[in-house]
Amino acid sequence: MYMNFWYVAAEASEITDKPVKIKMLGQNFVVFRDSAGKVHCLHNVCTHRGGNLAGGKMRGDRVECPYHGWQYNGSGECVKIPSIGKDGKIPARTRIDSYPTQEKYGLVFCFLGDLPEHERPPIMDIPEWGKDGWWPNLLRNEYKASYERAVENTLDPAHNEFVHPTHGYSGEKESYAMPDYKLDEVPDGCGFMMIFKAPPLKDETMAKLRNFGGDLEAGAGHVGPHQTWTQIHLSPTNWFHQYTFRTPVTRTHTKGYLINLRNALQGAEHDEAINKRQRVIQDQDVVVLEAIEPSIPPVTNTKEVLMPADKAIVRYRQYTKEWNSKGWRVDIEQVEREAGKSVFAIPCPARRETKGWVTDSVPVVQAGAAK
Ligand code: FES
Ligand SMILES: [Fe+2]
Repeated sequence: MYMNFWYVAAEASEITDKPVKIKMLGQNFVVFRDSAGKVHCLHNVCTHRGGNLAGGKMRGDRVECPYHGWQYNGSGECVKIPSIGKDGKIPARTRIDSYPTQEKYGLVFCFLGDLPEHERPPIMDIPEWGKDGWWPNLLRNEYKASYERAVENTLDPAHNEFVHPTHGYSGEKESYAMPDYKLDEVPDGCGFMMIFKAPPLKDETMAKLRNFGGDLEAGAGHVGPHQTWTQIHLSPTNWFHQYTFRTPVTRTHTKGYLINLRNALQGAEHDEAINKRQRVIQDQDVVVLEAIEPSIPPVTNTKEVLMPADKAIVRYRQYTKEWNSKGWRVDIEQVEREAGKSVFAIPCPARRETKGWVTDSVPVVQAGAAK
């Protein structure tokens, strides 16, 4: 799991003036909205004696620890310690991490890392968002599998034939073989488009959209460790463009936020039918992903036998090594070993400006080693 990327904490509508506890990258955060409507994301652990801030209440724009009433503002500064009286001096070390937030596509994104603004890898762009002729809808899912295995699954054109009966012939065709494909590079990612031989769709509505007598054009790609896109061109004019933002809760527990845009079947009245079909496909993937061993991709590719169709996955794994070498991979094994004894925080940008933080920064994996 990598720090220094934007992660979805929740849908925008879920964050109100009540503090909410949200686990991401194995750490707990408290997320709330202030009176101006701005969302804040803080490390959830009170620097006094470890109180659960999300269990407290809001006092104006401050979150109050339920244990002894310390109050923190949206920047993570402790601004009130009731036990020392109103003239008592508040130590600087009481500060907790506060992370940049952004609302986009109806979702709350938190930047979990310490990079200054101009160095932050951006949220994956959705060029169709807000454009006439594209209808978006959100579909969420949650599963007990690694988000990295899930990204690899999206980048894997060869699984469609076997995992999704609507996308292929389940290996029944003697002539089946994966065609080669070209990988295109983008910053922090890669992707491809290709032609699939797929059977006619049974679902009446979808069958109509595909009724042009040609093959299916589709492709996928990733941006960063956790975001992917998929394009499905059912016909030269009926397209689905999908963008998935994954939030690792832990190494093997993932929340997915899929924004599914379509240029056919405009209007909310079609959302449920589209979601129903999409859920069937997601569930087919989850069955495979939850049973994969090892649950996270192995440290080296020599422990699996990769084929030409896996080349997007090979490229993705190269990227993960680059992010490792930047010191962005959280050493979650160490965090888990010390669970119950130590608390760690993903470092926030303010840690680059000031010293003396009471909560230790999460340990990171040393360059080259993947965990
Ligand atoms: S633990 Fe939070 S105020 Fe004491
Ligand atoms: Fe799939």
